[in-house]
Amino acid sequence: MKGRVLVFLMVLCLLFVSFAVSYGQQASKDPVLADVHKAKGLQCASCHEKGKKVKVDDNEAIPNKQCVVCHGNLSTLSKKSKHEINPHKSHLGDINCTTCHHGHKPSTTYCLSCHNFDIKIPAGTVSAPLPSIKLPEIKEIPKGIKTEKTDIVVVGSGAAGLSAAITAHDKGAKVILLEKMPITGGNSQLAAGGMNAAGTKFQKEKGINDSPDIMYEDTMKGGKGQNDPALVRILADHSAKSVEWLTELGADLSDVGRLGGSSVNRSHRPKGGAAVGAHITQVLKENATKRNIDIRINSRVVKILEDKKGNITGVLVEGKHSGLYRINSKAVILTAGGFSANPEMVAYYQPAYKGMTTSNQPGATGDGMQLGEKAGGQLVDMKEIQIHPTVAVGSRILITEAVRGNGAILVNREGKRFVNEITTRDACSAAILKQTGKTAFLVFDEGIRKSLKQIEGYFHLNLVVEGNSIKDLADKLKIPSDVLEDTISTYNKAVEAKNDAEFKRPDMPRALKTAKFYAIEVMPGIHYTMGGIKIDTETKVINKDGKPIKGFYAAGEVTGGVHGANRLGGNSISETITFGRIAGQKAAEFVRSKR
Ligand code: FAD
Ligand code: SIN
Repeated sequence: MKGRVLVFLMVLCLLFVSFAVSYGQQASKDPVLADVHKAKGLQCASCHEKGKKVKVDDNEAIPNKQCVVCHGNLSTLSKKSKHEINPHKSHLGDINCTTCHHGHKPSTTYCLSCHNFDIKIPAGTVSAPLPSIKLPEIKEIPKGIKTEKTDIVVVGSGAAGLSAAITAHDKGAKVILLEKMPITGGNSQLAAGGMNAAGTKFQKEKGINDSPDIMYEDTMKGGKGQNDPALVRILADHSAKSVEWLTELGADLSDVGRLGGSSVNRSHRPKGGAAVGAHITQVLKENATKRNIDIRINSRVVKILEDKKGNITGVLVEGKHSGLYRINSKAVILTAGGFSANPEMVAYYQPAYKGMTTSNQPGATGDGMQLGEKAGGQLVDMKEIQIHPTVAVGSRILITEAVRGNGAILVNREGKRFVNEITTRDACSAAILKQTGKTAFLVFDEGIRKSLKQIEGYFHLNLVVEGNSIKDLADKLKIPSDVLEDTISTYNKAVEAKNDAEFKRPDMPRALKTAKFYAIEVMPGIHYTMGGIKIDTETKVINKDGKPIKGFYAAGEVTGGVHGANRLGGNSISETITFGRIAGQKAAEFVRSKR
């Protein structure tokens, strides 16, 4: 008896101490925005709906509306900024104020998930918390849980998800699109170099002779023949139509350049060579919004639901504010992207890549593969992980292959070229990793800078070393200037002779001869995961017995098979639009057949 009393007293003591500690932490906590507002005499109703119980939806619509009423929208704020790096003017498009500014916890700077800016945010800490790489395990669905109903749930708001949602909506289905991050767009929003397509009107206007057959051959060769030929056929045959569809929605894909592994110029991007991803995701998002498609951010799908026969019946969602709830649907389209930002999964499938940097957004944690597999889907090619040769040293910023496509070369610390710069990524990355320091310098001149709008961004981000002459550049890079001068002179002669005897580079669009000269130090980083959920040509998810799962569709990076052992630059955006549209159409047809 005495012992029990003692234990009881000890537990009481512990509870008291932990309460005191947490109260102490609370009391000494830095003020958050709610405190700052209160100090200015503003009450809860200044951010929340007047007269209503304080309740915030997962899109945080009301507080965001209030932020804009008082402070102005992103465009107004960006004009007011005096900072060199302007956080209110970014490639992320129109995002919620609450992505960074929080009322009741310290504010965080979302940009710092990828960049290394010296930014301070009012009432906040510096960096944004990364999403958990672990998918919560839901053993049992709680009884009486809130339940909604729709025709189709789309999981993930990148280019594949947005294309699927728009297409399904246009085919008459009611769609809910769920995104776990506080912003839409996924990796698609970061896409840089372009979207591959063969036989487009833009290629024809420029006299480029291409065809779906050549694109098919290039893709199979790039993927080392490990690709699913039927899926590659669809990728190539539908690619021009996908460019046309995006153009009809309002996109500009009129500039055509070259990315690694393609035998002709087929990477489409906006005029002047601007980045493709921010543009098309903006166009897709505007089109989805115009159609009143129900898009919910801060909404992580944690389970795909099925009946006893294995037919898909909906999803379980963890909303940031709404908590766990269920959506019953006739079909689910999985478009949740890859797993390059999940270091545990990367190291599990490719131990040699453990600890490597990544070019991906922090939400690319492989939820989709885990959700799909748990719902009976088959995984293919999971160990095929692509490293991109040119991620800027010291950040997660991808330096687009288009810089090399437009003429830049790679040199090592000894000042020498060491590879055909526009070979496939696996070959180029392997070559860089063999150089001193496992990094290289991407070298270009004023002519290349002028040819590609995206390059200005690297200057803006302070990633570029500048030299008034080749010697000046070499001195700044601390590499032998006579060797670099010789390397560039030999390369320029090869451009003139249209023959790169040393490295057999097939396309050399420009000589490097116009000062200034520039360099960015680059290293390979985890960029793309080729493996994923197995699908058929109608994007139906295939189970472990090789049969389609009823009501279950998938498209984009979450799937495996299109790219085999190695993806060609520009083929992913093409895949997301083509297969996203097929998924939207097939799921809508399935829903109609169930009515
Ligand atoms: P994503 O665009 O990644 O979208 C998936 C979305 O699902 C994400 O927003 C994610 O947060 C969300 N999600 C994940 N799990 C859940 C969950 N449980 N619940 C709800 N939502 C979830 N490819 C090209 O072809 N050309 C290029 O020029 C190009 N450049 C690139 C540059 C960079 C820096 C990067 C990182 C990639 C680039 N790629 C490029 C590759 C290409 O952008 C991606 O492979 C492609 O955009 C993937 O599209 P997606 O729609 O399948 O997935
Ligand atoms: C790049 O622009 O280098 C990336 C292209 C891609 O990943 O397809």
